[in-house]
Amino acid sequence: MADTENEKKTFYITTPIYYPSADLHIGHTYCTVMADAMARFKRLQGYDVRFQTGTDEHGEKIQKIAEANGITPKEYVDDVVGRIKKLWDTMEISYDDFIRTTEPRHTKRVQKIFMKMYDKGDIYKGQYEGMYCVPCESYWTKTQAPDGICPDCGRPLKVMKEEAYFFRLSKYQDRILDLLENTDFVQPESSRKEMIGFVKQGLEDLNISRSSFDWGIPVPVDSNHVMYVWLDALTNYITTLGYPDEDAEEYKKYWPGIHLVGKEIVRFHSIIWPAILMSLGEPLPEHVMGHGWILLDGGKMSKSKGNVVDPVKLIDRYGIDALKYFLLREYAFGQDGIYTNEVMLNRLNYDLANDLGNLVSRTVAMIEKYCGGVVPAKGPEEGPDGSLIEMGTTTADRVEQYMDKFSFNNALEEIWKFIRRTNKYVDETEPWVIARNEADKARLDAVMHNLAESIRIISVLVNPFIHHSSEEIRQQMGIADEPVVWDETRKFDLMNGQKVKRGKPIFPRLDVEKEIKELNRIQAEQIAAAKAKAAKDGSLDGNKDKKAAVEDKKTEEPAEITIDDFDKVLLKVGEIVSCEKHPNADKLLVSQVKIGDETRQIVSGVAACHTPEEMQGKRVVVVTNLKPVKLRGVRSEGMILFADSDGRYEFVTADAPDGSRVK
Ligand code: MSP
Repeated sequence: MADTENEKKTFYITTPIYYPSADLHIGHTYCTVMADAMARFKRLQGYDVRFQTGTDEHGEKIQKIAEANGITPKEYVDDVVGRIKKLWDTMEISYDDFIRTTEPRHTKRVQKIFMKMYDKGDIYKGQYEGMYCVPCESYWTKTQAPDGICPDCGRPLKVMKEEAYFFRLSKYQDRILDLLENTDFVQPESSRKEMIGFVKQGLEDLNISRSSFDWGIPVPVDSNHVMYVWLDALTNYITTLGYPDEDAEEYKKYWPGIHLVGKEIVRFHSIIWPAILMSLGEPLPEHVMGHGWILLDGGKMSKSKGNVVDPVKLIDRYGIDALKYFLLREYAFGQDGIYTNEVMLNRLNYDLANDLGNLVSRTVAMIEKYCGGVVPAKGPEEGPDGSLIEMGTTTADRVEQYMDKFSFNNALEEIWKFIRRTNKYVDETEPWVIARNEADKARLDAVMHNLAESIRIISVLVNPFIHHSSEEIRQQMGIADEPVVWDETRKFDLMNGQKVKRGKPIFPRLDVEKEIKELNRIQAEQIAAAKAKAAKDGSLDGNKDKKAAVEDKKTEEPAEITIDDFDKVLLKVGEIVSCEKHPNADKLLVSQVKIGDETRQIVSGVAACHTPEEMQGKRVVVVTNLKPVKLRGVRSEGMILFADSDGRYEFVTADAPDGSRVK
């Protein structure tokens, strides 16, 4: 952060660059809305802010989807990126730069970065043999996946061998561990601990090129290779600033920045990215802030199944501020949260329509009725005035403290405490009673002033989060033309003589039952459309074309075996007596399975297809003599069989009593 006497302090914040493999949903919107609120907040505090988002456009997956659709990868991403930009425009996301990794300003600089690391001896050519998860596009080491099962999704890994370029990540292991152990570089604390554990297992050199597909940035020293996703993707944060060009003014000005990312990519941002920067001899990011996931009742959202919450549909019905407020207020930073229409609608009714909307409309109505529509000057303090003023003028301090920790929900809760306090002030002072006695006019004026002041402060406090409502409030209070100044929240005598003007209610009250029905109808339509699309694409995954899926299956089919080989597998019927989500992996479920006299704990990678409730009570077939393994820290003693139906794992159930052997 630059901070010289004449220059403003700078603040650089980024979102992940999203994969344009399909349209974005409310989960991506959540991250972008947080970054936007933070950018607006810092601007209001006087920082010179740079807020960057964008799209991560290369890779095998995108190439495959484009091929399946019969178009080039570039044509495919152009189309999706167009819609992503439109979404951010609709939501009035205040980004300063949108980076597409296919832009020449990025590709040419990534190549220069590659050469710097190569010339330093930190990149070398080697043979890669590893276990690869095709759907997750990730390699895993033996330590991470001792049983050949993807620790993320639970599907079998494929052994892949290829010539590749490597980054000497292992060289930086000690420095990375030191960074993680001795600074608050990664937040929240749970993420930091997880990353320390990960580094302690040992860092292997990182494969950073591929020769099996060509939709990527060419490796400058070898035309058979393209760069593999993370070097290309992570460097976006600095290539847009001009790095590594000589005259990179913006880089000098804004770097280092703060990365806001979902918890599943904290690992890449807090281990690989700092190591790349160490190799380049550049400053490390200030912080990596890992946020939690928004889940649906039944688990993760899946674009291909259509069970996603489409932000556009919500904005169409309730407006931008409603969606932004809900996302920022409902979920605690760093933790997962469940989305339901009911919770969202109640939030809007209670907080926005009742608390905020009511306060503004009743105050404006009273100033019109008792004071001819003109805000009176400050009067002497009496009764509850002192506590109202104290709370009003100090709320900004508490908001700042929470915003420092990216604790948006608590920051908003502080503001709403003051909103509720102001509503209570109306009930305490009972202006309609004071108004009955002409002799009390001075007190009535003082109360109206205090209410107008409080609402002015509120209009500033809510501005970074719901700027439309802030403007609307200021319009009704007669201060629309005045600049919104953060420090003016600490004053309590600025309103005097403003003409208030009643407007439409800021938030109309919603009929929750009616709205739920309508949202359910919209969602059913979405699911039907996704099913139709999946049928057309020939795959439920939507990302894989039929041919590739068939070929995958062919290569996975094992060779012929004898009955003796088969007899080595001990299959038994078991009953799932209970099941819960895995504490550290969203794709995994942990079941307790009763098999005759014993109960075994078994981890299965089927959370995307089944809820724990669906699992419970099922009588299934279990491989019982599989060597126990730990999956993401949880012991698994066997394997429940499922039938893979185009990527969806269906139950293989049995009528026989539990404990009986399947032969
Ligand atoms: N392209 C990589 C990121 C590279 S950054 C150098 C990527 N893209 S992504 O499209 O998969 O986006 C992932 C990000 O989207 C998550 O880290 C998170 O910020 C956001 N989310 C996607 N689904 C989400 C939820 N269900 N809930 C909350 N955020 C989610 O990974």
